[in-house]
Amino acid sequence: MSNKIQTLSGYIHEYQKSVQDPDNFWGKIADSFYWHKRWDKVVDWNFEKPDVKWFINGKVNITENILEKHLFLLGDKPAIIWEPNDPDEQARTITYYELYELVCQFANTMKAQGVEKGDRVIIYMPMVPEAAVAMLACARIGAVHSVVFAGFSAKSLADRIEDCQAKMVLTSDGNFRGEKMIPVKAVVDEALEATNSIEKVIVLKRTGQDVIMKEGRDIWWHEAIEGVSKENKAEIMDSEDMLFILYTSGSTGKPKGVVHTCGGYMVYTMYTFQNVFQYNNGDVYWCTADIGWITGHSYIVYGPLLAGATTLMFEGVPTYPNPGRFWAICDKHKVNQFYTAPTAIRALQVFGTEPLEPYKLDSLRVIGSVGEPINEEAWHWYHDHVGKGRCPIVDTWWQTETGGIMVSPIPGVTPTKPSYATLPLPGIQLAILDNDGNELKGNSVEGNLCIKFPWPAILRTTYGDHERCRQTYFSSFKGYYFTGDGVKRDEDGYYRILGRVDDVINVSGHRMGTAEVENAINEHPKVVESAVVGFPHEIKGQGIYAFVICDMEGRSEENLKNEIRETVNKIIGPIAKPDRIQIVPGLPKTRSGKIMRRILRKVATGDTSNMGDTSTLLNPDVVEEIIQGAGKVN
Ligand code: PRX
Repeated sequence: MSNKIQTLSGYIHEYQKSVQDPDNFWGKIADSFYWHKRWDKVVDWNFEKPDVKWFINGKVNITENILEKHLFLLGDKPAIIWEPNDPDEQARTITYYELYELVCQFANTMKAQGVEKGDRVIIYMPMVPEAAVAMLACARIGAVHSVVFAGFSAKSLADRIEDCQAKMVLTSDGNFRGEKMIPVKAVVDEALEATNSIEKVIVLKRTGQDVIMKEGRDIWWHEAIEGVSKENKAEIMDSEDMLFILYTSGSTGKPKGVVHTCGGYMVYTMYTFQNVFQYNNGDVYWCTADIGWITGHSYIVYGPLLAGATTLMFEGVPTYPNPGRFWAICDKHKVNQFYTAPTAIRALQVFGTEPLEPYKLDSLRVIGSVGEPINEEAWHWYHDHVGKGRCPIVDTWWQTETGGIMVSPIPGVTPTKPSYATLPLPGIQLAILDNDGNELKGNSVEGNLCIKFPWPAILRTTYGDHERCRQTYFSSFKGYYFTGDGVKRDEDGYYRILGRVDDVINVSGHRMGTAEVENAINEHPKVVESAVVGFPHEIKGQGIYAFVICDMEGRSEENLKNEIRETVNKIIGPIAKPDRIQIVPGLPKTRSGKIMRRILRKVATGDTSNMGDTSTLLNPDVVEEIIQGAGKVN
């Protein structure tokens, strides 16, 4: 694999080349893919509109670079190894050749059910190989997939269907997750009562539980593919045609549909996969994310499969049937690269090292972290007990909007430092800006993390609302992409991500907008107003703290809190349920009526020694009452 960096001087050299001559740098990498027509120009960009295009007028199909490209040399190689929720159920291996046939057959099936190029297809499925097949089959025929994490509620699913006016839903009867069996199809049924764009639902039989199949709309997966050809000619796509939409939370309003396109995303995910994981042919790579998140898209499905890797997919949870499950899987399948989230590490850390003892973990070479800042304690535990002190940790910083990893060590090349994502990958031009928009040059500086030059997998727009894309990412600092994160560049020039500086909280590596949670809480009929902030949580990284003004009549505080949690569960899903709810008499507001979150954040953190200037508040007395009440919160 010629694009792999193997030495520190090699990294520096590649980085310099990527900045001095991006066209040549990315053009050469893109040349290792199969294009129906080569691009006329590598990149065209304007961060003010914003308008970014890569590999202009290139014609390509990403699945040909996963399937046809590997058939000759790697046809018999496992593309996907699937480990089921129940360790006693047989694992499955799908070779590149088998994947080719499955994808082609399902592509033909979707076409036969009326899906055409450009149509949006929702994937609301468990972690089974068919979910990856579904994504690739969409890409094969030029349909735009939008995967929705199967833990989201019917309401969240309906909102996404409505926003992108999807034509089809791909789902399962139910999902196995640990000891639970989740009735997924029933959630889809409920969502579809509130929307009207969906024409067909294809249902994979996974749990065998009873479901209602609506005549004319719902069709079983196994029946739909029966007798369908396993040959399919890939749709020829323009580089800038949409590949997928993935909804993610921001500071305001409803989740927005981040749009990624075919050419740039393809080039960037494979390049970053190869470099960050140093994958060698024959290795088994495992990322524990769910395909409902960007990590699952870029580093379970697209990146590894474009690189001809063997990617492991796990259906279950880290603690089922016991907290040694991750390590059992690493030994069972001889995993070489393991990629997980700090929240999972911290959750397992609680059980001590005993669950690790039966396992050798000697196949591991690189271990990765993603989704939130990794605290030093978790970093050391991961390094010492999982990596046995010999595997470099790749702490990878990136976002749904960046499409691929942006800041990360290159294992074995970049010296690591606990809790530092270290250095930008080639092609990534970071800038740290103060709140007035001045770029802070040199080392030992701290500020807002921005990016000043495009990379191939940058988001192109937010679906159906380009102005929102401009406002959210390109308006805070003129001429820059703003990430929403705070960052420090230390005396060695190493980057440490400090967390979000906007109203987004990161709960167990999942992004939640405070406004989104507040809107859900406010749906409860007894709630008058609410304000949500994050607070440090030992396992989740951040927890959700809700300050709520309620009409308490006829309800105990306990019952009301339970009802509020249930309301949030119903509207968003279990991941958004507040960890703490404090019923308050009022919220601290400025004279213009804005909630002073700074004060609430301090209360939630338990740091009430210095509340700063509260004299400008409309209702300064309420602050003392909130502080008093905070002691008894659960
Ligand atoms: O705050 C950063 C945090 O996760 C946010 C992006 O969330 P999402 O789009 O859901 O993507 C998560 C997986 C790529 C970022 O703005 N984040 C992600 N990785 C790290 C991180 N914070 C610190 N260190 C990381 N390695």
